[in-house]
Amino acid sequence: MGSILSFNCKRYSLLKSPKIIFKNTYKTLDSWSNIPEHIKAKQGRKLFLQNGHPLCSLRELLQRQFRDKSINCVAKESPVVSTITNFDSLGIPKTHVSRSKSDTYYVDKDTCLRTHTSAHQLEEFKNLAESKMSKKGFLITADVYRRDEVDASHYPIFHQMEGAYLWDRNDKAGMLRDLEQVKLDSDLQKLVIDEATLKDHNDLQDIYSLQETQIASIHLKNSLVLAIHNLVLMTPDNGLDKSQVRYRWTYDSFPFTQPSFQLEIFWKGAWLEILGSGVVRENILTQAGIQNHVGWAFGIGLERLAMILYSIPDIRLFWTTDDRFHKQFTPNEITTFQPYSKYPLCYKDISFWIDESFAANDFYELVRDVCKDLVESVDLIDQYTTKAGRTSLCYRINYRSMEKSLKNEDVDLLQVNLRKALASSLNIQLR
Ligand code: PHE
Repeated sequence: MGSILSFNCKRYSLLKSPKIIFKNTYKTLDSWSNIPEHIKAKQGRKLFLQNGHPLCSLRELLQRQFRDKSINCVAKESPVVSTITNFDSLGIPKTHVSRSKSDTYYVDKDTCLRTHTSAHQLEEFKNLAESKMSKKGFLITADVYRRDEVDASHYPIFHQMEGAYLWDRNDKAGMLRDLEQVKLDSDLQKLVIDEATLKDHNDLQDIYSLQETQIASIHLKNSLVLAIHNLVLMTPDNGLDKSQVRYRWTYDSFPFTQPSFQLEIFWKGAWLEILGSGVVRENILTQAGIQNHVGWAFGIGLERLAMILYSIPDIRLFWTTDDRFHKQFTPNEITTFQPYSKYPLCYKDISFWIDESFAANDFYELVRDVCKDLVESVDLIDQYTTKAGRTSLCYRINYRSMEKSLKNEDVDLLQVNLRKALASSLNIQLR
């Protein structure tokens, strides 16, 4: 039997047709369909496969960190998945906010653009089972899509790498051997703060012993710290004292791992969250046809890490076609991005009355659709509710191109178009 994603990706086109082909049948758009033009226009860019692009280099460099582990490396090209694949297969509750139309891009009620690479976990676990566990895990890289706010670190398309690694539960010796392989030396150990050591944790999966859970968790944490620290060591120093770098593990919660952990990195004075992870829920493995195994999974955001390692200040830069960006990078090396220019900022405010149907993400989406990448950020600067219960919002739209100085009349025109689009497509009243 083919996998749940076995449709021919060359044959579908979201770009031109109001219908797409999914699993060899046409999908007609419905009231859930909410994929705007600016997203359709960027589908197919495949930044993570473009030789020399920092996201492609980071993918390659991360894959090399796992080279001595027996894993499959896969790139997923088509982002169109069923909601069963993206949510249900991972035990994500029907009421979870990530399923809402304001958070996720839907092709139609049952089909969406994947919101995380975990959408492919089950499929890849099935592949491991079908290969009779000839490999112990996988690394999946793909573009993922989420409706979100507009600022220097959020973009509705970004990239994740999903990793997983499993052991046969009868092979305790193998587990211990693998654990030995990822031991941190005492200098690196000093940089790690582990606030999730499982000592006081009573929320383990019933099926696994504390010892198994401990080994899988420590192997997960050490493998990731080693991988990321090796990349940190590859970055040019530029006066940045790398000895300031710290790693911190805290508990997290995901429906598909238990226990779950988050990794943060301390970089240039701030803690930044870079990945979610945990011990794979046994029911996901059994769904895939894998019996009596234990292991871990993680999902890391590539942009966040690339912005740190390459000193890239604005997430929109990954999408630029400006040569001044691309010519700075050498494939599979980490270099420091030199900003070529910072063009002037120009801001315009927009105020409107809303009703209870208003979702901020719908507004952000419209701004991106009308103004493309010319908006650097959108801030809510004022909000008030009248005695009669009407609410008014005021947003500041910060316009700045990454490629040129914007002329006043260009910005004025964008703002006029934005007001028009807002009045005609959202249930608001302009002020
Ligand atoms: N999919 C999760 C996210 O996008 C990350 C994750 C992956 C967590 C694998 C646990 C295991 O936030």
